[in-house]
Amino acid sequence: MPLDIVIGTQWGDEGKGRVVDLLSSRADLVARYNGGDNAGHTVTVGSQTFKLHLIPSGIIHPQTTGILGNGVVIYPATLLAEMDMLKNMGVKVDPSRLRISHAAHLITPGHRALDAAQEAARGKDQIGTTGRGIGPAYTDKAARRGIRMEEMLNEPAFRKRMVAHIEETNQILTALYKAQPLDPEAVADEYCAYAEQLGGYIADTSALVWEALQRGQSVLAEGAQGTLLDLDHGTYPFVTSSSPTAPGVLPGLGVGFGFPGRVIGVTKAFQTRVGAGPFPTEVLGEAATRLRGTGSNPWDEFGTTTGRPRRVGWLDAVLLRYAVRINGLSELVVTKLDVLSGLPTVRLCIAYRANGKEYSDLPFGPADLSPFEPVYEELPGWDADLTSARSWSDLPKQAQAYLTRISEISGVEVCQVSVGPERDQVVDV
Ligand code: GDP
Ligand code: IMO
Ligand code: MG
Repeated sequence: MPLDIVIGTQWGDEGKGRVVDLLSSRADLVARYNGGDNAGHTVTVGSQTFKLHLIPSGIIHPQTTGILGNGVVIYPATLLAEMDMLKNMGVKVDPSRLRISHAAHLITPGHRALDAAQEAARGKDQIGTTGRGIGPAYTDKAARRGIRMEEMLNEPAFRKRMVAHIEETNQILTALYKAQPLDPEAVADEYCAYAEQLGGYIADTSALVWEALQRGQSVLAEGAQGTLLDLDHGTYPFVTSSSPTAPGVLPGLGVGFGFPGRVIGVTKAFQTRVGAGPFPTEVLGEAATRLRGTGSNPWDEFGTTTGRPRRVGWLDAVLLRYAVRINGLSELVVTKLDVLSGLPTVRLCIAYRANGKEYSDLPFGPADLSPFEPVYEELPGWDADLTSARSWSDLPKQAQAYLTRISEISGVEVCQVSVGPERDQVVDV
């Protein structure tokens, strides 16, 4: 069986969690391969809503095993809280159901303090990070001084490494950023206690993925963040510090090219972004409130991780086509189509304009979008409530036309549309 991949095509929060939940009914392994607890993936099942930051969304299906691959960065306090939350909600979590890569890196309070200090130092040029220590943890990994999960298995050596790491971080915090130092012994105590709780979960997950694929089992890779937040291919420097795109699955799980499956891109029916950075189709004022919601619905556009209001705008098909290319998408899932009901018209950005010239593709990737103005196509809207639509013919013809246009411009078929957060609120196309 192949390796299927679910990735976000925008700036995150596309609804990957709910799509992974749908696909997980037929998966054996569900694996996170990038990012950390900057992610917030929401899955609604009946009266229960799960908000997952580290554990793959597929864990809710009892036949799956969750994997945290080597490309993930782990803040143990979040992970343990999430395990408790799941257990309290009736989901079994133990080492028979969840494995953590020995090569995944740890996030420490030092990384979180650095994240906060670096953001403060950027002043008006802030990235608007989630403050979860993601950037500093991946910096330490790339600088070859990071601390890996496997080090938790040797307590005396781990304690020494933690103390040395906090002492070194304190030098940077105090000398460079004039920030408060941390207590190295206290942090080491805390992390040694985590090591005791998490030691039994640590495994060579690359080998587990390989063995599953060899046995003919099905593996689903769950992306966190989105294509435009990719460290290499996103709106640099307003990006995260990992590779959320499909190519990131291979190094992030330690799996080779041999198991090609579906590469499923998730896009909202409009566009959102949380944090700073370019957003050509952004709308402001009342129009924004209409797309964002006011917070009265659980799905309104407020960050799952930080609660920040998300910036909103029209669907940008130039960036969507870019995501198709970067990820080699085989298909698209469009989420939150229900939110557009009631708008007289729906806008779709089909090209960019700069210096009197029109571009249907980006000349230099999305890092500098400042020269471009979006060129919109305006399509008729629809009034009908879509939340009970379950088949293509249940959708008004204007909504069908909008989806067909998304397929045409992106060059990839829309295979599924979601019309509400619940498991059954989907239309297979
Ligand atoms: P992720 O980070 O990509 O997993 O997305 P988030 O969970 O952060 O944000 C997506 C939000 O939209 C969640 O609150 C979901 O419950 C909700 N959601 C997903 N699909 C739909 C949909 O089709 N309609 C509506 N109304 N809400 C949806
Ligand atoms: P999911 O998986 C939306 C954004 C932050 C910030 C930038 C860098 O739920 O889609 P970081 O803390 O990673 O250094 O912040 O990336 N960001 C997300 N935005 N959804 C996410 O995850 C995000 N994870 C990070 O807001 O702009
Ligand atoms: Mg999210």
